[in-house]
Amino acid sequence: MKKTRIGLVGIGFMGKTHLWSVRNLPFFYKTADLDFTAEVVAVCASSLARAEVFAAEYGIPRAAASPEELIADPEIDVIDICTPNPLHYRVAKAAILSGKSVLCEKPLTMTAAEALELARLAEEQGVVCGTVFNNRFLAPIMRARQLIDEGRLGRILSFAFTYKHNSCIDPDRRVGWKQTAEAGGGTWYDLGPHVLDLCHYLCGELSFVLGKSQIAYPTHLKVDGSVWETDADEAFYVICGTREGAMGTVTVSKLTQGANDELSFSVNGERGSLSFSLMDPNYLDFYDATAVGAPMGGVRGYTRIECVGRYPSPASGFPAIKAPQGWLRGHIGCMVNFLSAVANGTPCEPSFSDGAYVQMILEAALESDRTGREVSLC
Ligand SMILES: NC(=O)c1ccc[n+]([C@@H]2O[C@H](COP(=O)([O-])OP(=O)(O)OC[C@H]3O[C@@H](n4cnc5c(N)ncnc54)[C@H](O)[C@@H]3O)[C@@H](O)[C@H]2O)c1
Repeated sequence: MKKTRIGLVGIGFMGKTHLWSVRNLPFFYKTADLDFTAEVVAVCASSLARAEVFAAEYGIPRAAASPEELIADPEIDVIDICTPNPLHYRVAKAAILSGKSVLCEKPLTMTAAEALELARLAEEQGVVCGTVFNNRFLAPIMRARQLIDEGRLGRILSFAFTYKHNSCIDPDRRVGWKQTAEAGGGTWYDLGPHVLDLCHYLCGELSFVLGKSQIAYPTHLKVDGSVWETDADEAFYVICGTREGAMGTVTVSKLTQGANDELSFSVNGERGSLSFSLMDPNYLDFYDATAVGAPMGGVRGYTRIECVGRYPSPASGFPAIKAPQGWLRGHIGCMVNFLSAVANGTPCEPSFSDGAYVQMILEAALESDRTGREVSLC
């Protein structure tokens, strides 16, 4: 059985999440059904010393001094990029050109031009490249896509996608790289890719965007306690439409008191509606307007579909399909999807093209915010 050898670039929150996903795959999927195994064989971080400590702590065979060292290693098949956003392009490009498969965190790059170049290079080189849009792999999102494909919503008329955190409100919280323009545009670049990808995945391609950013706190505190002037959005609001004629909104905010990790959406069609919240990740709510509505409402109303752990084959059914599932399950699904494509030599979806599509919308919305005008995507 073939073993896929992974070089992990970045060992922060997402580096740990990806390592956890690779190591736990054999619980969630039977190895015999997958026909491959995978191991993180080397890591690198912002310094060799940090990578060495991490490698020792998590039992990883090797620490490297740089992403380039991992890319040059013939014993590594896949480069998995979990660094701050500005590094994605350079590392992904070098890895593709060396013929390695690449898994890259969102947002794929800092600009649409960079993302489109990566998507083109991946195709030219014939290497398997995936963008981490992990929410696609939660059971309710998979079921939502099935219901739309089955025609249960009919023509989609409207939608609302939102992703809310509260992290820009706390006056004592020190500013991190994700809040800065240097890292690619604040909350819009951090949370926007997740909801834009879901909007694309469930509702189709957009025809226009009208975006507006918000900064509610002109200053924050740096790690050393000094004052930092806010230079990127803390929230971003978009009105948009699809090529098929649906209209809706995409909103991201780190200014929402009481919000933890609140990704939610509603999609409304002629025949029915869907709604979902990541804080309630075991259920998808479905309204079937074709159900009998009389007498006294008949049986019409929202159905709470118990998606829970009912993943299709080759999922192993562990833990029990009735056991509550959470955010990490989406990362497991995303990882197995990518590694299966690598093992079979087939294209991965979500691909770098999907990442580039999202990057184009991110950029168009920023342009709209800058100019105060709607940006056409046709
Ligand atoms: N898909 C998701 O659910 C999700 C969630 C959070 C973050 N992200 C994305 O994951 C990526 C990483 O975010 P994070 O939260 O893990 O950040 P983090 O700050 O926790 O970790 C970043 C890591 O990158 C390493 N790094 C920095 N410079 C480096 C260099 N030159 N060479 C090698 N390594 C370097 C750091 O040592 C650190 O280990 C970002 O692109 C972010 O947008 C995705």
